[in-house]
Amino acid sequence: MTATPTQIHEAIAALHRGEVIGLPTETVYGLAADASNVEAVNRIFALKGRPADHPLIVHIADASLLGHWTYGRSEAAEKLAQAFWPGPLTMILPRHPSVPDAVTGGQATVGLRCPAHPLALRVLREFGGGLAAPSANRFGRISPTTAAHVREEFGDAVPLILDGGECDVGIESTIIDLSSGTPRILRPGIITHAQIEAVIGPVAEQASELSPRASGTLEAHYAPRTPMLLLPRDALEKEAGEQRAFGKRIAVLAIDALPAGSTGMVLPGNAEGFAHGLYAALRELDAGDEHLLLVERPPEGDAWTAVHDRLRRAAAGAGPDDDSP
Ligand code: TXA
Ligand code: MG
Repeated sequence: MTATPTQIHEAIAALHRGEVIGLPTETVYGLAADASNVEAVNRIFALKGRPADHPLIVHIADASLLGHWTYGRSEAAEKLAQAFWPGPLTMILPRHPSVPDAVTGGQATVGLRCPAHPLALRVLREFGGGLAAPSANRFGRISPTTAAHVREEFGDAVPLILDGGECDVGIESTIIDLSSGTPRILRPGIITHAQIEAVIGPVAEQASELSPRASGTLEAHYAPRTPMLLLPRDALEKEAGEQRAFGKRIAVLAIDALPAGSTGMVLPGNAEGFAHGLYAALRELDAGDEHLLLVERPPEGDAWTAVHDRLRRAAAGAGPDDDSP
């Protein structure tokens, strides 16, 4: 953690003035603002270029503050907070009437999370209120996992970014909808379906049409600008050879080792390690002037669900800006 006490102090003063700061969390960096200040929240939407009906997650210092943001008590929420907070789990709950529409996109629910990053927790405690914070990337692009990534995305438009080092988890929090009927996972994350079921019983895995909107559920999201193909190892090696024979510049993102003759990057063969390095690797490979990114498809299994989700969306949205949704 390299943010100085002075920077932390300045960040908190800026939040009180209704400004937007770059804030590290254990998942990805966020663009944070006072969740109870409508103008501050609107500034986040303007910076991200995000449609106003896409709700923001409110970050809070601990579970005792749930009642400030939600309406009624949820036993499931209390159990999950006990089990996983501070940590990468966001819960969608009926909103308290005082939560601004700007935060919830006008929906009857609010997303809440207590992040595990020590710097985020310190800022939350000293600030005293809730912080609305989406991932600190422009809409539809790859989430940032370092302070430098946030700088790349926003430049001088976000002058104050607290540097908390590389994010541990590397992909966004698991989102679970507890607002009605059977709990349902809206966005998979490193906290898995099985882990959640072990605490609260049956949980539905797929988002239904009736569920509240989550922009993480748009098909194309988290996307590099370079076209990207996701392939099992054998097919990837074959494709790499063929593309090179056609004279294409390709970069490979492989598990454990690069195929002979390929350039690119390597990620570990376990889900935590892969998730930790995924976005930084996609950013770095995307920054080169390759024609195509070839990404090795990881193994199946509960631990890998979130990684598959992000890779599928990245491949669906990849390509130059003009072609992306
Ligand atoms: O790990 C994370 O969750 C990161 C860090 C910064 O905390 N934040 C994050 O925020 O990923 P964002 O805005 O990029 O993604 C939050 C997702 C969006 O897809 C949003 O639509 C959904 O949460 N969401 C927020 N409030 C919601 C609500 N009331 N109902 C349904 N979905 C909601
Ligand atoms: Mg996001």
